[in-house]
Amino acid sequence: MRTTHLLLVSLLVPVVRSQAPGSQPPVVAAADLTAPRADDDRELAPLLAKAKKAVEAGANGAALLADKEFTALRELTVFHHLVRDCAPRGELAMLPPGEPGQPLVVRGAVKDQHGKPVADALVYAYHTSQKGWYSDRAPHFSGMDANEHHSRLFGYVRTDAAGQFVLNTIRPGGYPRSTVPEHIHVHIDLGKQNLFSGGVVFDDDARLTKEMREQPGRDLLVKVEKEGGKQIVRPEFKVKVAEAATKK
Ligand SMILES: [Fe+2]
Repeated sequence: MRTTHLLLVSLLVPVVRSQAPGSQPPVVAAADLTAPRADDDRELAPLLAKAKKAVEAGANGAALLADKEFTALRELTVFHHLVRDCAPRGELAMLPPGEPGQPLVVRGAVKDQHGKPVADALVYAYHTSQKGWYSDRAPHFSGMDANEHHSRLFGYVRTDAAGQFVLNTIRPGGYPRSTVPEHIHVHIDLGKQNLFSGGVVFDDDARLTKEMREQPGRDLLVKVEKEGGKQIVRPEFKVKVAEAATKK
């Protein structure tokens, strides 16, 4: 385990454990935490039912995420799962309409240990807003692994036949009152096999120390290119796929 990952873990674990019984006092100030709304939130239930009906009628994850009406559902884990279960292939726009920020295009590729593209892998990405917040009420959600399960900005996309995917999003902000570099969390699964859990960090981020640049660990350090007002990054995830999973 190396520096950047350690940093992320060391700062996030106290956050996610901050409400666990008997836990240590949180490193992150209480003012920087907010409790996520519950999956069975009564106020959101009609909207959630409407989103489920939209899926039954043929909407996919991209359509759900693009629908302004469903913005309030984004912090519900059940909505994350609804989006996951109808993830589009190839390309996804992650943002709710009107989300401010520097446009960022993530052009990712997933390759196995033989250098072959990994098709149909499920890529889950989540990150902070422009100002470094996972919630719209505070920088972090409180609770175990809460940012992962409740992040307002998130998306699921499947890799195409060439093992590639595109995420249209914004450049995430760094956490307030923190030295953790800006990052996008990425999980890649193939069936029940987790191929990657880590992050993408950016080579133009002033928070990246020399040590982090030299040893990004499980995080991928990507070069930020600029194209017509957008930033482009091209992470290549080199993963190990169990041989049994490659035989169909
Ligand atoms: Fe994070």
